[in-house]
Amino acid sequence: MQKQIEDITLILGNIIDPIIKNETWVCDKNNYEWYYTFGRLLQPTSILEIGVSRGYGSIAMGFGCENPPTHFFFVDNEIDGIPITTAIQNINQIFPNAIVETLIADSQIIESLPSHFIADVSHVDGCHTFGGVQKELALVYPCTRYYIIVDDTHGEYIANGVKTFVSTHNDIQIIHEITESLTGQMILKKSQPKKRN
Ligand SMILES: C[S@@+](CC[C@H](N)C(=O)[O-])C[C@H]1O[C@@H](n2cnc3c(N)ncnc32)[C@H](O)[C@@H]1O
Repeated sequence: MQKQIEDITLILGNIIDPIIKNETWVCDKNNYEWYYTFGRLLQPTSILEIGVSRGYGSIAMGFGCENPPTHFFFVDNEIDGIPITTAIQNINQIFPNAIVETLIADSQIIESLPSHFIADVSHVDGCHTFGGVQKELALVYPCTRYYIIVDDTHGEYIANGVKTFVSTHNDIQIIHEITESLTGQMILKKSQPKKRN
């Protein structure tokens, strides 16, 4: 896969919090640029994300879409100290017509997501452990129509967690492994159930 943009910060513009603008994961030209690329590739009309922080990943994907997503479903336990309202405000500013729904919850405790949290693409970026990523995949799996992106797969324990989850689900496969990005991502594709005659 080819990166489709050189510097996303030019279009993320003034929503970038000045406190973090010099952090590697913001100013490195090899992080959110990939999320723009995923948006270009997958063209989601809706995005579900576990582990949202300020919403930059979802926003970068939205910028990559020909038509911005109309729905964002955000799940975060705010453990990093960033209130989920920050992501809501950022989405409202960039995509004013989009609907944002949020759930403040610990992905490792809840059994399921609200039944209307259904999205074309899900992004798993909350609990970064072998078991944690599998729990988050189990939460988004029934809520995802087409693709799941998992972040931080340079971490071997996370990559192994993804592979373990996929090995126990026949209708999902890893279609891309982005190894050249800052944190590494895997893209999983769900196969659609065959229509019965
Ligand atoms: C790396 S940041 C997410 C960055 C974001 N996805 C982006 O693209 O900018 C991780 C987020 O996951 C949240 N988080 C960590 N553990 C969690 C858990 N067990 N349940 C829900 N959210 C969690 C943190 O509060 C934080 O906002």
